[in-house]
Amino acid sequence: MKRKIIIDCDPGIDDSLAIMLALSCEEIEVLGITITCGNAPAEMGFANAKKILKHMNRLDVPIYIGARKPLKKPYVSALDTHGPDGLGGSFLDEVTGYEQSLNAVAFLSQTLRSQRCSLIAIGPLTNIAQLIQTDPTAFQNIEMLVSMGGNYRSHGNCSPVAEYNYWEDPEAAAFVYAEMAKMGKQIHMVGLDVTRQIVLTPDLLSYMEQLNPQQGAFVRKITRFYYDFHWQWEHLIGCIINDPLAVAYFLRPQLCDGFASYVQIETESISRGQSVIDAYDFYRQKANAFILTKVDVKGFFMLFFQNLLHKTKAELSLLEHLISSKSERSKE
Ligand code: RIB
Ligand code: CA
Repeated sequence: MKRKIIIDCDPGIDDSLAIMLALSCEEIEVLGITITCGNAPAEMGFANAKKILKHMNRLDVPIYIGARKPLKKPYVSALDTHGPDGLGGSFLDEVTGYEQSLNAVAFLSQTLRSQRCSLIAIGPLTNIAQLIQTDPTAFQNIEMLVSMGGNYRSHGNCSPVAEYNYWEDPEAAAFVYAEMAKMGKQIHMVGLDVTRQIVLTPDLLSYMEQLNPQQGAFVRKITRFYYDFHWQWEHLIGCIINDPLAVAYFLRPQLCDGFASYVQIETESISRGQSVIDAYDFYRQKANAFILTKVDVKGFFMLFFQNLLHKTKAELSLLEHLISSKSERSKE
């Protein structure tokens, strides 16, 4: 029985890799893709999602546009990171179709009322917050809520203390975490502490191209801009691909370690968007989140390459030599 998911995203280069991974996994059925503003404005994200589905020959998967702005804060994109078209300046051909019969929240509500499925949220949480506000009953039907966002001990990536998804719409993130607490549920927080270790290095990208030239060339095309950004801002040779880890963790939770904790998201001032993780139980509140702290980097890339490149483990024998020993220790 395939595990059903809806991907809520802001494509976005790493969102695109996450969608490609999910569509490549036999065990997953992608019921639909919902778009929120974030890396790119919602319409651009919608156009990019269509381009990715066309590349994957999966234009059967529905896409619905959601939030065009955060709940309260002015919208701030991350096009400086993802390129002028939100896909690394690749300017792939536009894809027609997908007239919108529903908006994202209506699709989420309708789908969750008809069947249980999980939600992989890899952008700001605006659509999720609006789903809870408009149809809490449907939201309760979620099997697993996985959110790429936040950070525990790792520094922020758009302020000293905040990760972009939760910084872009802090009211949405704060509301979702507060509602999860009220419902006695836990959101799985795939934060920067683990995603920063998922670096697509030039060697790994070259290996992808050798193993599957068509897929490797496509990944190179949409990540080139991202490489330049990471060198300029993080002095990193490679690019951090945050979002595919949310999909991989959903598939194989054993790839990561973590702990349950109560979390609140700050919405104002200098620490806007900070995920305040009560690891030492100061507030004596029931845990509303499971915070990931360690990741098996080699295990992630093995899963990523096996599914995206359609290779067996035996065909990926070089992989472990391409994963730096530093990242091996992250699991110890
Ligand atoms: O902070 C990284 C996250 O923000 C990723 O999901 C990236 O795509 C952006 O949405
Ligand atoms: Ca994203």
